[in-house]
Amino acid sequence: METSRHLLFFFFLPAVLALALIADAETNAGDAAAMRALSRSLGADRALGWSASSDPCDWRHVTCVDGRVTAIQIGNQSIVGTLPPELPNLTALTRLELQSNGIFGELPSLAGLSSLQTLFLHDNDFDFIPSGFFSGLTSLTTVYLDNNPFQSWEIPESLRDSGGLVNFSANSANVTGSVPNFFATAFPSLNLLALAFNSLTGQIHASFAGTGIRSLWLNNQMGSSLSGGIAVVHNMTGLEELWLHSNSFNGPLPDFSGLTKLRDLQLRDNQFTGPVPSSLTSLKSLAKLTLTNNLLQGPVPVFPVSVKDLDLDPKSESFCLQKPGIPCDPRVDVLLSIASSFGYPLRFRTIGRE
Ligand SMILES: *[C@@H]1O[C@H](CO)[C@@H](O)[C@H](O)[C@H]1NC(C)=O
Ligand SMILES: *[C@@H]1O[C@H](CO)[C@@H](O)[C@H](O)[C@H]1NC(C)=O
Ligand SMILES: *[C@@H]1O[C@H](CO)[C@@H](O)[C@H](O)[C@H]1NC(C)=O
Ligand SMILES: *[C@@H]1O[C@H](CO)[C@@H](O)[C@H](O)[C@H]1NC(C)=O
Ligand SMILES: *[C@@H]1O[C@H](CO)[C@@H](O)[C@H](O)[C@H]1NC(C)=O
Repeated sequence: METSRHLLFFFFLPAVLALALIADAETNAGDAAAMRALSRSLGADRALGWSASSDPCDWRHVTCVDGRVTAIQIGNQSIVGTLPPELPNLTALTRLELQSNGIFGELPSLAGLSSLQTLFLHDNDFDFIPSGFFSGLTSLTTVYLDNNPFQSWEIPESLRDSGGLVNFSANSANVTGSVPNFFATAFPSLNLLALAFNSLTGQIHASFAGTGIRSLWLNNQMGSSLSGGIAVVHNMTGLEELWLHSNSFNGPLPDFSGLTKLRDLQLRDNQFTGPVPSSLTSLKSLAKLTLTNNLLQGPVPVFPVSVKDLDLDPKSESFCLQKPGIPCDPRVDVLLSIASSFGYPLRFRTIGRE
């Protein structure tokens, strides 16, 4: 018994020693200097007890591996301060979570943080995002920038460096310009693209037909807003949530028959014309739908009870009759089929209206 215990001890000794060495790896001097600069500019000595006399790898909410800082997780800690220019010196960083604080001023460029995977900057008071911000962020998968009072900015080409992007969220972030096509082509794993409550203009590009995006939020663009048709949605068969409400989208509703996972479709407050397609009324996955305040034509559609949450006020549309399920006068059908061959243009929007 005694002997075997000794044997076991000697057998594991090298592993035990190796672990002790890793745990005690000396903190990288550059990382320590950058962390001290971060602590000073965030006032984290008081807010988080990051003591200037202790090793930054021992600070709360900081993770180190082999003496390198790999994670800073200080979301929702009532921190008020700014970020220092030394932040991109933390080149082993994989997670930077600063959300839900009062951090203000310019974001420093994060260019070159090639290990960074997760970036939470949402719900702060940042007012500027530099154009090179995303350059070289080759490991980035998750970005949340929502609810910051940025000066207007466009999503830069350099985001393409982050080919493994999964979730990109910048609602209420003063984003201008168009929805870049590269969201459709550069990120094969893209799951969520959320750009609601900004000032985007232009159309949803046809290249989005090839994406597997599950959640697309482009609703409530202020000012001139998003426009054009949404025929491309027909091919976006991975969609579960599609929020396009409060824009200037127009033309007919697309064929939804391939969108077998679509749960939540919000199209209200646009200028859609033409009849509601049967591919939508018969979509089994659909649980939530808004259509109010468009220029929809034909008969009032009837949805199954599985659409638990339905926002459709027939008076706000251009339906032929106000009662659900009653077909239009055959003459109206003829006129609508003519309008159909022109893609239901706005000038025919009152055809057959009661
Ligand atoms: C940060 O990196 C820059 C450029 O490599 C270097 O000049 C600077 O001294 C570093 N700062 C700290 C605090 O280590
Ligand atoms: C932030 O922390 C407070 C308590 O300190 C908690 O009540 C609140 O739910 C947290 N908010 C978020 C968004 O985590
Ligand atoms: C967006 O940015 C512009 C200029 O950069 C500024 O004038 C405007 O107030 C900002 N809008 C919002 C909603 O913050
Ligand atoms: C991405 O967003 C989805 C849906 O909002 C969420 O369920 C998932 O956890 C997010 N993934 C990451 C890596 O944050
Ligand atoms: C869209 O789907 C249709 C078939 O439903 C297919 O013929 C077409 O090639 C697809 N377009 C793209 C761009 O994927």
